[in-house]
This record gives sequence, C-alpha cells and structure tokens, in this order.
Amino acid sequence: MNDIIHDYLLKHIPKSTPFFEELEVYAKEHEVPIMEPDSLHCLLQILDIQKPKRILELGTAIGYSALKMADKLPKTEIITVERDEERFKQAIHNIERYGASDRIKVLLTDAIEGSEEILTYGPFDAIFIDAAKAQYEKF
Ligand SMILES: C[S@@+](CC[C@H](N)C(=O)[O-])C[C@H]1O[C@@H](n2cnc3c(N)ncnc32)[C@H](O)[C@@H]1O
Repeated sequence: MNDIIHDYLLKHIPKSTPFFEELEVYAKEHEVPIMEPDSLHCLLQILDIQKPKRILELGTAIGYSALKMADKLPKTEIITVERDEERFKQAIHNIERYGASDRIKVLLTDAIEGSEEILTYGPFDAIFIDAAKAQYEKF
C-alpha cells in the first residue's frame, strides 16, 4: 500500500483500550503473530456492515482478534480454533478476563483434523481464516 495512504489510515484508527494494549504488548514481546491494526480494522468494518450472528475463526492465538470482533459486535457469537495448547490456555484466560466466555468458544484442535467437531458449531455467517497460510486452500 502507498505509504501516505497507510499512514493516513493508521492515524484514523482508534487507540486501543488498556486491556487490548496489554495483549498487543504481550504479543510483541512473545512473538505471537496477531493482526495488524489496519487489516484488523478493515475486517471489523466489513463485519460491522454484515452483522454476522456467528463467526468461525481459524487461528485464535491468544484470543486478540476474537476479542476485538466480540467487542465490535456485541450480539455475535464466535467459535475460534487453535491447535497450540499453550496459546489455547492464554486465549481462555484472556477471554475470561474480558468477561466474554459466554460469546467466545475456543476449541483446542487442528482446523483440518477437527473439522467434524468444528462443523457441529455451525452454521456460520462469516469465516475468518488466520491460521497457517500454506494450508488456506485446505481450510
Ligand atoms: C496468525 S496467528 C492468529 C492470530 C489471531 N487471529 C489474532 O489476530 O489475534 C495463527 C494461529 O493459528 C494457529 N494455527 C496454525 N495452523 C493451525 C491449524 N491447522 N489448526 C488450528 N490452529 C492453527 C497457530 O498456532 C497460531 O496461533
């Protein structure tokens, strides 16, 4: 993207609250790849227009994007999938701290191997794939 446009967009993205800022700092310090502000806000904008009742996210990491979606869409339920046990536990912890456990369900499974289980939580109105890039076609 053109640098001028990128800078303009970044300037207009609202500043994160202390809770989300803490997750951003944690992700940076521990090298957890969470969404960048511009792509995240683009996604949130699209979802805000669509207003999905239920979202499936593949790739929870520490729960950052799932919580951002839950924050933007208070009536939406989110099913999010993570195969790494340590990150799964951190996501559960963060979601509990935010008080969103009733709206975000985290599944500890591989998105492909666990597809049968995942599909029992459908149907989904939106699917956000943010797991291993090389496997997107399979996802
Ligand atoms: C880019 S991070 C997700 C970031 C998160 N969506 C956010 O922005 O807060 C990708 C995550 O997907 C997980 N992952 C990769 N391949 C997966 C698979 N096949 N099934 C489930 N999780 C997977 C990784 O362990 C990693 O935590």
